[in-house]
Amino acid sequence: MIVTNTTVARFYLAKLTHSLAPRRLAECILPDGEQHKTLQAAGWVFDALIGKKMNRDAAVLALGGGVVGDIAGFTAACYQRGIGYVQMPTTLLAQVDSSVGGKTGVNHSGGKNLIGAFYQPQSVIADTDTLATLPDRELRAGLAEVIKYGCVWDPLLFDWLDHNMGKLLERDVDALTYSIARSCEIKATVVAKDEREQNVRAILNFGHTFGHAIEAATGYVSYLHGEAVGLGMLMAVDLSHRLGMIDGSIKGRVRDILGKAGLPTTAPRIGAAKALELMQMDKKVLAGAVRLVLLEKLGRAIVTADYAQGALRATLGEYFA
Ligand code: NAD
Ligand code: GLY
Repeated sequence: MIVTNTTVARFYLAKLTHSLAPRRLAECILPDGEQHKTLQAAGWVFDALIGKKMNRDAAVLALGGGVVGDIAGFTAACYQRGIGYVQMPTTLLAQVDSSVGGKTGVNHSGGKNLIGAFYQPQSVIADTDTLATLPDRELRAGLAEVIKYGCVWDPLLFDWLDHNMGKLLERDVDALTYSIARSCEIKATVVAKDEREQNVRAILNFGHTFGHAIEAATGYVSYLHGEAVGLGMLMAVDLSHRLGMIDGSIKGRVRDILGKAGLPTTAPRIGAAKALELMQMDKKVLAGAVRLVLLEKLGRAIVTADYAQGALRATLGEYFA
């Protein structure tokens, strides 16, 4: 069962179907957009699997970006208690992040990715040629997740991004390939240590607690996921700086690199109270405390609920009020 969406189907469905012939194939084409990453969309995939009388030997092929990948992986995890699936990511964000590591799921109006499963794909096939048709804004959103790896894990990658951002934006094949391969190496290393996010994997959520609040508050339509994460990283370094964990130069470097990548650096005025309410639904909340990923230096992050609430309020006030 190829699961894709209306946009990606136009570009790549016929090619994929052709290359897989003569296997028994079916397709499920979802509407495009983060606002459709819902249980209802998962239901349409189940309907298609059942409609085609698929059994446990069926597999789901997720052809698309992170939205398709997350929904398709989730349906594979649930259908008949689990069938195989393959990720075929076609956005930069999906190639550097969402297709790897086995997080699957859908959103709820009360929060992002609240319903899902850890369920690993059997393989991930990232064809960088598919990035040729990706809109510029989507390319930039994917770069946010690459910058994330530089911030939390690999200062050399951060430096490399600083020097090569122009090439990436021009879609230089070697630069893109390096950024994808290095991102996957880092993600695989982290996930291999902590698949179920009991500890170190949480650092991959750098910027996400703030970012998810932005996405939920704006109905999943105004900001791309990567854009919201970029803003969230800015807030996370702002808070790290207020707490005296990093000096101002690191905050400046993160702001500069987001700017170089053409990502937004001004947050929507959703209000600090609303942001905090949404952040309290984050999956890292433990015993009611919002745990945040903060930077100790470029390339080293910690996850902590032990920070001054006043500093958090100040960051939220500065960006959201
Ligand atoms: P997306 O899936 O919405 O894709 C972005 C847009 O690009 C869509 O309009 C899509 O139709 C279009 N598109 C996809 N491939 C294309 C191509 N090759 N050419 C032209 N257009 C193309 O968004 P995304 O940024 O890929 O993924 C974001 C989602 O991923 C979010 O829901 C986020 O929560 C999730 N995510 C999951 C994980 C994880 O570990 N599972 C990690 C990071 C993000
Ligand atoms: N995107 C964060 C993770 O997969 O853990």
